[in-house]
Amino acid sequence: MKNYNIAVVPGDGIGNEIVPEGYRVLEAVAKKYDFNLTSEVFDWGAGYYLKHNKFLPEDGLEKLKAFDAVYFGSVGLPEVDDTLPAKDYTFKVRTNFNQYVNYRPVRTYPGVQRPLRTEKHIDFVIVRENTEGEFVQVGSQYLPDSENGMGVDTSIFTRKGIERVAHYAFKLARKRRHKVTHITKSNTLINSLTYWDRVIKEVATQYPDVEHDQMYIDNSTASFVLKPEVFDVVLTTNLFGDILSDLGGAVMGSLGLGGSGNINPEKDFPSMFEPIHGSAPDIAGENIANPYGQIWSAAIMLEHLGETEAANNIMEAIDKSTSEGVLTKDLGGTASTSDVADAVIKNL
Ligand code: NAI
Ligand code: MG
Repeated sequence: MKNYNIAVVPGDGIGNEIVPEGYRVLEAVAKKYDFNLTSEVFDWGAGYYLKHNKFLPEDGLEKLKAFDAVYFGSVGLPEVDDTLPAKDYTFKVRTNFNQYVNYRPVRTYPGVQRPLRTEKHIDFVIVRENTEGEFVQVGSQYLPDSENGMGVDTSIFTRKGIERVAHYAFKLARKRRHKVTHITKSNTLINSLTYWDRVIKEVATQYPDVEHDQMYIDNSTASFVLKPEVFDVVLTTNLFGDILSDLGGAVMGSLGLGGSGNINPEKDFPSMFEPIHGSAPDIAGENIANPYGQIWSAAIMLEHLGETEAANNIMEAIDKSTSEGVLTKDLGGTASTSDVADAVIKNL
């Protein structure tokens, strides 16, 4: 029997509620599809930082390397400096494990009210560059306390970094509706993003069967709302992708609906699967957080591990559950976090 060894990192806030529920779904689907799961839970994050002055132990990354995948919630607490969660955990894992693709699908959930008027089916994937761009944290502050104080952050776009994520996006489009829209702002960021455009266009010539167009980030936010059905694969930078994926969550009906994968396509390192949102401290501890995005992330993880049938089964069970009206408070329902997992497990 196949076995997958999963590192489970619930993190902080609602991560501690939705990750165990998502894992329960994983265990149920594993039983049905005859594979085995082993796991170890790591209590890393901002809570761990309060006790140990770091988000994860020195050998944390080394430990994670031994696993087939990381099933993650999110990190961050109001009482901890909020520049640390990304720097000391999320980016650390993403960059050290070459998880250069952030795969963030957006789709229609049956039975879920969306804020948009359109009845059209929405089904696209945001492919966010996940290791460089605006988030490299190269920069400095100069005399921040003086009246001449200044702060600088540099964005870095490398040929290698753009090519590899672009190839991923075009290959993904070949398995979907054969269209890539790349998001840019090269009319004003005339060095970094004209280079981004140029390298993507070079890659595009290798995929003549895939339609390719480009759109500015400002226009794309409007298009997400006004005509989301035109998108298939949306290829975008680290910062733009971060923002667009929350908008994608909103377009679906709630931030709690978005699942994602931080993917190392070469499988040299484990990939990490997490919902698109944060630790939502404002609703933590009440068993009301929406776990659908976390459960969807489990399906994306299984797909990555090669358990496609099990992944599809989770998605069908999610759809059945939302159509039956099993909806959490953010979706206008009364179901608790665990009610949702119960329903998904029953519907597998
Ligand atoms: P957030 O995504 O945690 O919450 C934004 C709003 O959406 C809140 O009102 C929250 O209640 C709601 N929400 C989010 N997920 C939900 C769910 N599953 N069900 C129902 N409602 C949900 O973003 P925020 O407030 O900006 O950040 C909170 C903390 O999370 C911060 O410390 C931030 O740094 C951290 N964060 C961590 C991330 C990660 O670990 N990958 C990603 C984003 C934020
Ligand atoms: Mg974000």
